[in-house]
Amino acid sequence: MAKFRTCNDASFFRRQKYGLVLKYTACIGDAEIEDNVAKIPLNRDDGSDKLILQFRFYKNGAIRVTVDEAQPLRPRYSIPEGDVLEKNIEGYRITVVKQSASAMILKLYDSELSVVSQPFTAKISCAGQTVFSLNSYNFFRIECYRKKSYMSQQNVTGLQPGKRKASDSTEDEPPLKKSKSKDGSKNLKPTVELNQGLWEEDYQGVVDSKPYGPSSIGADVVFVGFQHLYGLPEHALRLSLDNTEMSSPIKLYNADHYGYAVGSTMSLYGNVPAVIAHSPDITVGFMWLNASETWVSISKETWVSISKQEKTRNERPQVMTHWVSESGVMDMFFMPGPSPWDIFKQYADLTGKSTLPPLFALGYHQCRWNYDDEADVRSVDARLEEQQIPYDVIWLDIEHTDGKRYFTWDKAKFPDPKALINDLARKGHKVVTIVDPHIKKDPDYYIFREGTEKGYFIKDFTGKDCVGECWPGDSCWLDYTNPEVRDYWASQFSLEKYQGSTLQLHIWNDMNEPSIFGNPDTTMTKDAVHYKGWEHRDLHNVYGMYQQMATYKGLLDRSSGKERPFVLSRSFFAGSQRWGAVWTGDNVASWEHLKLSMPMLMTLNLFGINLCGTDVGGFEGEPTAELLTRWYQTAAYQPFFREHSTKGSKRREPYLQPPEHLEAIRQAIYARYRLLPYWYTLFYEAEIHCRPVIRPLWVEFPKEEQTFTVEDCFMIGNALLVHPVTTAAAKSVEVYCPGEKELWYDVDSNLALNGGQRHEVAVTLKKTPVFQRGGTIIPRKAKIQLSSELMKDDPVILYIGLDSQGAACGTLYIDDGHSFDYKSGNYLYLEYSFKEDRIECRVNSCNYKPQSSVNKMYIVGMEKRPVSATLVQESASTELQLTYNSGTKCLTLPVMEVPVWKPWTIQLNYNS
Ligand code: NOJ
Repeated sequence: MAKFRTCNDASFFRRQKYGLVLKYTACIGDAEIEDNVAKIPLNRDDGSDKLILQFRFYKNGAIRVTVDEAQPLRPRYSIPEGDVLEKNIEGYRITVVKQSASAMILKLYDSELSVVSQPFTAKISCAGQTVFSLNSYNFFRIECYRKKSYMSQQNVTGLQPGKRKASDSTEDEPPLKKSKSKDGSKNLKPTVELNQGLWEEDYQGVVDSKPYGPSSIGADVVFVGFQHLYGLPEHALRLSLDNTEMSSPIKLYNADHYGYAVGSTMSLYGNVPAVIAHSPDITVGFMWLNASETWVSISKETWVSISKQEKTRNERPQVMTHWVSESGVMDMFFMPGPSPWDIFKQYADLTGKSTLPPLFALGYHQCRWNYDDEADVRSVDARLEEQQIPYDVIWLDIEHTDGKRYFTWDKAKFPDPKALINDLARKGHKVVTIVDPHIKKDPDYYIFREGTEKGYFIKDFTGKDCVGECWPGDSCWLDYTNPEVRDYWASQFSLEKYQGSTLQLHIWNDMNEPSIFGNPDTTMTKDAVHYKGWEHRDLHNVYGMYQQMATYKGLLDRSSGKERPFVLSRSFFAGSQRWGAVWTGDNVASWEHLKLSMPMLMTLNLFGINLCGTDVGGFEGEPTAELLTRWYQTAAYQPFFREHSTKGSKRREPYLQPPEHLEAIRQAIYARYRLLPYWYTLFYEAEIHCRPVIRPLWVEFPKEEQTFTVEDCFMIGNALLVHPVTTAAAKSVEVYCPGEKELWYDVDSNLALNGGQRHEVAVTLKKTPVFQRGGTIIPRKAKIQLSSELMKDDPVILYIGLDSQGAACGTLYIDDGHSFDYKSGNYLYLEYSFKEDRIECRVNSCNYKPQSSVNKMYIVGMEKRPVSATLVQESASTELQLTYNSGTKCLTLPVMEVPVWKPWTIQLNYNS
């Protein structure tokens, strides 16, 4: 029997998907419009349910559509404002274009929202074209809370929370038969009665007591004029999401999914309930803000139209999506774009900007489950140093604690953690320890004692502290949805409280879906009770984010708000980009999983979760030396770069690899460290301009349809195209270089490839095909040391790749790398340009003056050798030596030693 519930195991899904069509009328005549909000009564046609429909217009162009019960028996859950949604998002006054009893048209910039009263539908057009339609398939359905007597009675008395009913402990999955659902899709339709599971439901014999009965919501949203939809991280799916008609809908219910299968629509550890639809003409976004179990069906319909009238006029493809959630308010956000950059900005306005991590977070992380003791850690450090392999962080997994009691140390293994951390810190290395949300049920453990006394644990439906099993055995779970619990948790990270910690110690939050062994979906039972009486069912998907948020606060508070925290979390939700990094959990040592890393990480970046990565080598299983090497080469170009492997796996640190592989891995790590100035600049620009750090090709080439499904390569910023080797024994890879007018310079050979074409690129074990886009300037570090901190003041080299017009530009951002001083202007931001034989460095902000210099420049794509180059700085001129390679068309301006923070120009001179 499946460990994870399928859609047909969920009674709310069955009712939403296969229940009778319900009709609703929007009473437009009774609409109340005030400033940026329009409120309209929405009634079910049989008179049973009264709802309130609200439209909210925002200054950034987004339209929010909320549906709640008018007079609920019990309030519906919505995530408190400020936790996922930013507080005080600026509204925009509604303009009414037309209003009658049967329809109304509201305007926001060049978007129009038209609402039809009966049956209720809404459409949004941008620049005259319909792009969204809501409820054109009549899937809109809200199950209002009702008294139990209303429906079939099922007696829950006598049940133990989350325990099996003896009679049905061996019950099988409901029998399924093939039949068409109401949208004509071929999902397997269950034969179980639709009114089964309304007031009590069990899976594998574990009972969900459902004291409040059914409360699900569902609606269809059509993206009109689109064939490509991206989003709904985190899934092991393709970049451009496929139809789900022949598979299962996509499940959003954060789960501990060990060794997940590639191509599965089942949930992984975190999720963002949002998608981006893209066409050559326009990009739009949509978020379904709901934290309960959610299923999304996708059906792509090419060249049909949404209504008879439009069909004759305008035949367009469309993507139909059907969203179904178990509980909560229906809360939808329509983002009009029109460009990908506008979507990233609109989404960040709603859910927050991704924050600039400390520089060390972008270095290489050395992890495994476990480094056993202090001697082990010191030996890994020494052996990496011996092999001249830089790393920034070494990680300690659960066994470093005293019996999985987090915030403690196993004294025998780590007798003096502070001394260890301080010794490593002298070489610029940091330590990360794991701190999970399950608290060992042990009255002698202070967190358990205090949590019990203060009533901080999640309760079962009878009001007792919920007990379940995780690494320490019987455990309780802190309720991070309670702000007071978050403060309590945060206070545990103070240097006084967390014995053995220092400011160089950072945190890893794992198992925070939360993972509970033996339960359905390996998580908390749905009838567990949280702060303010909300059920776990209502807020499951946001639980992990709250833990990361509380940990972030803890690390912030311990430095009195001065130092940037680093927290890695396994679970996440929309908005997690504000609290730190995520990784893709327990992946597998296979070539498929290596390939999968690209669509998974690109999708996370589309929703601001930039600092993300995979376990290098695969968590589960043993990679061959070749697979491991290729994984390093891929991950060196992905945002969060950490090797990690499961307990008992063969040691796989770089220095244990055969010489040829070790050398290739070393070079990959060097490539990462050389590029740190570029990575760091991109993370700064992600915070300021909301641009993803790694990008699918279509983001940079939005008109080029050929790029829309490309997922075997990715861009870092706008300047680097990375096409890693992801097959065994490869002798070459086929690389698609986008953009007909673009030039792409192989970073190893400097040779240019033409854009708009496929190229066969030869590879050896050492080679990762990486190309610099013509027209860009990339800063790189000139030499490698043992950690990013030691390299801070080392010189920078500029790599200038000219476009077909002979021009290029780029930026460089530098600050102290660890504090929040940059927020008060203490940073350096430079703009470099190459135009008409003149290279210029413009200083946009220079309140931070690092020691480093620019000491070299490589200019590729130079058709002619200049006779001389003159550097002008503070009105002093210096002649620079130059060398030119006519074969590679590369000009080198060596050893300039210009302080990095000073403006300068270089004039290239030619004989006239
Ligand atoms: C599960 C995590 O996914 C994995 O990375 C970690 O090593 C183990 N838990 C043990 O903490």
